[in-house]
Amino acid sequence: MASKYSLKVNGRAVAVEAEAEASLLSVLREELDLTGTKYGCGEGQCGACTVLVEGRAQRSCVTRIAAVAGKAITTIEGLATGERLHPVQQAFVDAGAFQCAYCTPGMIMSSVGLLKAAANPSEAEIEQSLQGNICRCGTHPRIVAAVQQAAKAMQGGAR
Ligand code: FES
Ligand code: FES
Repeated sequence: MASKYSLKVNGRAVAVEAEAEASLLSVLREELDLTGTKYGCGEGQCGACTVLVEGRAQRSCVTRIAAVAGKAITTIEGLATGERLHPVQQAFVDAGAFQCAYCTPGMIMSSVGLLKAAANPSEAEIEQSLQGNICRCGTHPRIVAAVQQAAKAMQGGAR
């Protein structure tokens, strides 16, 4: 049976009706039309569906909607400020850290989550943190470079 849930998505209060078992990913994509968050494996293994829940990176495909009622959720659509990209988005563009870009929203959300927890992570910490995000195009080295670049920009006061 469907129930009503209140969420705060990208700073906006929203109410959705969904089965308690529904995944946060399906609600974001199908009810709220936020299709930037991608479906990859559906099993918590690839990271394509990563969003922030209360500022922490979380796999939305294995997060039930009932578990995030009332919580603040940020998706890739909520990162930019107007026309200005988030420093992590900008760094991905500058470093050319994508090819097909299917993994990119999840990579960026995981990276934003990492930089919230650790402002200046080492290369090893970045690699470790993004281990659960799979890129089939082999762009990991450029992604790590982008995260390092973003960390510098953010320390310089970009955000
Ligand atoms: S789609 Fe969620 S981790 Fe793969
Ligand atoms: S850029 Fe294609 S999967 Fe990562």
